[in-house]
Amino acid sequence: MSSIKISPSILSADFSKLGSEIQDLEKAKADLIHIDVMDGHFVPNITIGPEVIKKLRKYTSLPFDVHLMISPVDNFIKNFAEAGSDIITIHPEATNDLKNSIKKIKSFKKKVGISLNPETSLDKVLPVLNLIDLVLVMSVNPGFGGQKFIKDVLEKVKKLRNEIDKNKLNTQIEIDGGINFENAKIAIDAGVDILVSGTTIFKENGGNLEKNIQLLRTR
Ligand code: DX5
Ligand code: ZN
Repeated sequence: MSSIKISPSILSADFSKLGSEIQDLEKAKADLIHIDVMDGHFVPNITIGPEVIKKLRKYTSLPFDVHLMISPVDNFIKNFAEAGSDIITIHPEATNDLKNSIKKIKSFKKKVGISLNPETSLDKVLPVLNLIDLVLVMSVNPGFGGQKFIKDVLEKVKKLRNEIDKNKLNTQIEIDGGINFENAKIAIDAGVDILVSGTTIFKENGGNLEKNIQLLRTR
């Protein structure tokens, strides 16, 4: 069993100084940087676009774990790839040809993630599990940080873990939304590889990033 990776969500960072916030996360031993992209249409909130990601690229060598909550997603994949994303995660509801969108992300030599909303069935991802690098299991409805963890999604994590192990795949499982020091443990036990966290990392313990990352990792 590989060690748990932490992908802090910069949604909870200070947007007026994202560059230094990302440098601080690297110093605090984050493994990836989770970047939430929202369009005000697929989800009821707006965040940042490819130009900001491109500008942030020079602040860290950590992989950019880019979570696209935008629809239709296809026409923007190129922009986010060229901006310096390392993993590009899309929602099945944001494309009418999932396999083609996966192919498109791969054509830019980027890792592919598929995200499942709490109410989205595992069946959406099982047929493409061998084609992708990551499944992002949403444990809140996407759109905002600071929401309450939906425990029911852990059943989906367990089934995914079984499927991935049974087929000897390298697909990683990432969980996103409402992760705190208590539920991190049950998520890890259910089989996740990567924890996303915004509120817990930026707000707990007076915003001590290193301590919070360490605490999540060692649950
Ligand atoms: C929600 C985002 C999450 C969110 C996590 O749409 O995808 O990445 O920022 O933040 P917390 O940890 O505050 O739930
Ligand atoms: Zn996210």
